[in-house]
Amino acid sequence: MKVFETHSAEETTQLGRQLAQEIKPGAVVLLRGDLGAGKTTLIKGVAEGFQAASADDVTSPTFTLIHEYRGPEVSLYHIDLYRIDTQRELDTLALDDLMDAKSILLIEWGEKFERFVRERNAEIAIEHLGGDHRRISFSQEN
Ligand SMILES: Nc1ncnc2c1ncn2[C@@H]1O[C@H](COP(=O)(O)OP(=O)(O)O)[C@@H](O)[C@H]1O
Ligand SMILES: [Mg+2]
Repeated sequence: MKVFETHSAEETTQLGRQLAQEIKPGAVVLLRGDLGAGKTTLIKGVAEGFQAASADDVTSPTFTLIHEYRGPEVSLYHIDLYRIDTQRELDTLALDDLMDAKSILLIEWGEKFERFVRERNAEIAIEHLGGDHRRISFSQEN
């Protein structure tokens, strides 16, 4: 596990660009942390790292639930399960159809469903340390 600390949103986005170099195509990545921790902010950088979107184009899929960003090598699917509570609701998203060797799923609130905790390939956990200070840990299975 690698642990980082950031002191601004921009630094967290920059860390996302850096972590993009370690995330492998095909991965399911869980992003954990309270509301406002910085999950979406970090994904802005991941999307830039994969040349799939610019930071400004990455917004929270809170209502739309899934945003797709297509890069030259992989498609990123940014998913927010905050408002999804039942297996039935989850099934309507058909996330299985998005899983592919050339896609990466970045899932906020994925830990609400045991399945994603089991199947995740990498996890990014963000802790709010007060003000703009965050501790961000990255772990990945080999
Ligand atoms: N170090 C930091 N890292 C990430 N976001 C930060 C940081 N400091 C302040 N912020 C602010 O916190 C908020 C994080 O929001 P967001 O990324 O949408 O969180 P989440 O997706 O976890 O709910 C943004 O308004 C961002 O500008
Ligand atoms: Mg978010």
